[in-house]
Amino acid sequence: MERSFIMIKPDGVQRGLIGEVVQRFETKGFTLVGMKFMAVPRDLAEQHYDVHRDKPFFGGLVDFITSSPVVAMVWEGDGVVASARKLIGATNPLTAEPGTIRGDFGITIGRNLIHGSDAVETAQREIALWFKDDELAGWEPSLKGWLYE
Ligand code: RTP
Ligand code: MG
Repeated sequence: MERSFIMIKPDGVQRGLIGEVVQRFETKGFTLVGMKFMAVPRDLAEQHYDVHRDKPFFGGLVDFITSSPVVAMVWEGDGVVASARKLIGATNPLTAEPGTIRGDFGITIGRNLIHGSDAVETAQREIALWFKDDELAGWEPSLKGWLYE
């Protein structure tokens, strides 16, 4: 089944929004298969955002991600990659729709609370970057028959 890498960024942790974010993914029906609270080494932050290496905001983004702990997670479910991006909302919280995480809790692009993989292939790369195989626990939720036809 499809998996996505989701990270609550330092601002989400500092603002006490871990529970709120986890609840949105849980109540949507996705399954948590990996989770760790961690300080992010600089080289990991740089690899994670490698696609943005040449952008003017890259240095500030890496400074921010390494400034305070994050919650790294892997969520599983049908269509979870695209659905998580919808739950998260547009990159700029000011234009993100109300009802999305960024739309409900954020104001500025550099403090947009949460990361979600942007494609299935990106998710596979990011999960391998952040988690060892034995840090992921696949399991069959007993509610599955009430979530899927
Ligand atoms: P993310 O990767 O963090 O989930 O965010 P995203 O896909 O919605 O946006 P992306 O284009 O991948 O940008 C990555 C992160 O870089 C910061 N950013 N700052 N100052 C700026 O113009 C700017 N643009 C992007 C944001 O924190 C964004 O989430
Ligand atoms: Mg992105």
